[in-house]
Amino acid sequence: CGIIGYTGPLDSKKILLNGLSQLEYRGYDSAGAALCMENSHICLVRRTGKVANLKETMERITDVSHCGLGHTRWATHGGVTTQNTHPHQAGKVTLVHNGIIENYHQLTEQFHLEAKLHSETDSEVAAWVLDSLYQGDPLEAITRLVALIKGSYSFCIMFEDYPGEIYAIRNVSPLVAAYTRSGSFVASDLTALIPYTRQYFVVPEDHIVRLTSYKVHLYNLQRHEEMPELMEVNWNMDAAMKNGFPHFMLKEIHEQPEALRNTILPRLSKGLPDFTDDQIPDDVFTSCSQIHIVACGTAMHAGMAARSMMEPLLRIPVTVSVASEFRYEEPLIGEDTLVIIISQSGETIDTLAAMRLAKNYGAAALSVVNVKGSTIARESDYTLYTHAGPEIAVASTKAYSVQLAALYMIGCRMALVRGKYSVPQATEFMKKLLNAIPAMEAMIAQKDSIKALVTHLINKSDAFFIGRGLDYAFSLEGALKLKEISYIHAEAYAAGELKHGTIALITEEVPVIAIATQEKVFAKTISNIREVKARGAFVILITKEDAVLDRGVADIHIRIPKIGDRFTVFPIAVVLQLIAYYASTGKNLDVDQPRNLAKSVTVE
Ligand code: G6P
Repeated sequence: CGIIGYTGPLDSKKILLNGLSQLEYRGYDSAGAALCMENSHICLVRRTGKVANLKETMERITDVSHCGLGHTRWATHGGVTTQNTHPHQAGKVTLVHNGIIENYHQLTEQFHLEAKLHSETDSEVAAWVLDSLYQGDPLEAITRLVALIKGSYSFCIMFEDYPGEIYAIRNVSPLVAAYTRSGSFVASDLTALIPYTRQYFVVPEDHIVRLTSYKVHLYNLQRHEEMPELMEVNWNMDAAMKNGFPHFMLKEIHEQPEALRNTILPRLSKGLPDFTDDQIPDDVFTSCSQIHIVACGTAMHAGMAARSMMEPLLRIPVTVSVASEFRYEEPLIGEDTLVIIISQSGETIDTLAAMRLAKNYGAAALSVVNVKGSTIARESDYTLYTHAGPEIAVASTKAYSVQLAALYMIGCRMALVRGKYSVPQATEFMKKLLNAIPAMEAMIAQKDSIKALVTHLINKSDAFFIGRGLDYAFSLEGALKLKEISYIHAEAYAAGELKHGTIALITEEVPVIAIATQEKVFAKTISNIREVKARGAFVILITKEDAVLDRGVADIHIRIPKIGDRFTVFPIAVVLQLIAYYASTGKNLDVDQPRNLAKSVTVE
């Protein structure tokens, strides 16, 4: 969910609506706002569906408001209804919430709330508990609430008898705040603040912020005021606009070459990867005897590709885990383990919890994160920031390729400092990595022919992605992209494993996207393609441009530039992203905000 609070001289309706549109990628099941009007009355507006629906209603409000809260929801507790839409009002309290209150049931009983509740949400329970605890001092009531609730949360709160003031508190779920000449702001993330300021601070966990129209105060739970630690935004508003592209996703696909340069070049010293400026000492890489990569979604797929690249190179075990599983698996890690945490947002709650667990086991935590100052970046022992700029489309594209670039650099540096690579070998590796950038550009330039081939996919209900080795790791992400935004059921399969059951699903109605760029398994993969072709599948094959193919192996052949086998993921990622993108637009679907998803998942 996305939350925003504003108080200041400007029209709060406009600020909340703008902010909510920026935050909409965090969830878009419903949206709402609470406006403190000039007579101190609080006006509540809530609509199911996207922020556009809320906007329609809010534009009809003619009275001026200078203080308010907004929320865009990704449903967890309770369906998508107006009653379940935030803000929630309870007596003197109006609040918006991101996260999950785990003990809401017990609190409902403890405070006898059953009859009072209008919604099915845990958030409304928190609102009533806060109202019960409130005796005129907001800070005191909030600290008492925090002592009672369990779970992850960020709240923005207005109290009826403090018009023009907003209070906010967080535990785990993210929150940033800023005070500017245009007023005071608090929001789930920076995208909502960048039109107004370059300076902001991350609200520390278990701290309360109090916004007045000219100042933001920060308090600890003992209610002592503290100085916030100000940070500078490292990207501008243009980066969060579509800039003439029909969708953020297409814009972000195009931004990949630049994002890769921004991520790689500052860390090249005499042609070798160098993390001195990132303050990652080499002993992080030499002192471990195993690597454990933990992430969710696309970031986990970047980890899968990195594993396939790193393990044969480093000759140490490299394991990849889904964060939500890792947390409950009693992983075999310890002080000898380098845990690499990958997250675009730096806020995914399962990934964060997995990292905390890894640290408890004594492992060193190195995060690969895109959002500066995010919780995972701040809590990890070391951080390698990717420089993709803001990624707005829910389906991740540029974040994936820069994560890979960062992981490849880590692999190269490790090989160098562990004696697996000589200086010339490491230099050659980095050259090949840089060569992947023009290869990506070449595939972006072929977008029209990729658009044309998608006509063979959009009327199908299933598709398979197959490959071996690294190509299999890339397929996983290709299948995820297609599922996420075109709603075509897609599965990635190790090409050699198909015949052990899955091939039963191959018919003329099932297109197969086959990837064969790895020399050592090329012939084997081609044999597997023949097996599906023999069963009628329509085959779209991706190989390097110099691959020699017999006639009839594929129905459509996409050629990527000839680059090192390990690096083909970069141009292939572009191809697979464009296939998913055009499948989605071809079906007239909402590319940037596919159903049921959210970009930043801050619930477990
Ligand atoms: C969500 C998004 C995915 C993303 C995953 C991990 O599920 O929809 O696109 O890959 O979270 O996000 P992170 O910010 O941790 O990379």
